[in-house]
Amino acid sequence: MKFTTVLSGAVLTLAVLAVPTAQADITLRHALTGETLDLSFAKKGGNTDKFKQFMQTGKNPYNGDAEAAKKGESLYMTGCSGCHGHEAEGKLGPGLADDYWTYPRGLTDQGLFEILFGGANGMMGPQYVNFSTDDMLHIMSFLRSIYKGDPKKADWLK
Ligand code: HEC
Repeated sequence: MKFTTVLSGAVLTLAVLAVPTAQADITLRHALTGETLDLSFAKKGGNTDKFKQFMQTGKNPYNGDAEAAKKGESLYMTGCSGCHGHEAEGKLGPGLADDYWTYPRGLTDQGLFEILFGGANGMMGPQYVNFSTDDMLHIMSFLRSIYKGDPKKADWLK
């Protein structure tokens, strides 16, 4: 009896200690190097409830939200369209509304976020410089909303 009491006390203490580090259930990795992305570089104000939700599920809670896609569209126009085209048809950078991906992980929300936050090759620099993590989820929701590829390949819907 005494032993169980001590044990459950210990378990409780562990649970309490674990709380501060238990916010994230997914681990974000750089698209090229596979290194863990350092979110301490993120712009202030992006750690919203929706972003916290994303960090738990790996799914973008703004998908299918027309308001969010609209905000994402205007952010996309300022920060991405110059290289990816106004309809994400591709320009300097590849098209983002079709089902061809240089980085197939872009077919998942987690993979797409990783490319945005951490960047990829050459001109595709890390976007944390310009956008908060919540902004990035808005941009992603816009991109999913204009998707013209094969619906079967849309892994983020699964
Ligand atoms: C200065 C030009 C430039 C800007 C600005 C830019 N990109 Fe890119 N982007 C590129 C280039 C070039 C590539 C190809 C890089 C590679 O293959 O590694 C790329 C690759 C990507 C990919 C990977 C596509 C695939 O097929 O796997 C995604 C996703 C992407 N960009 C999204 C964005 C978004 C969203 C923004 C705005 C927040 C943005 N980019 C801003 C030039 C840019």
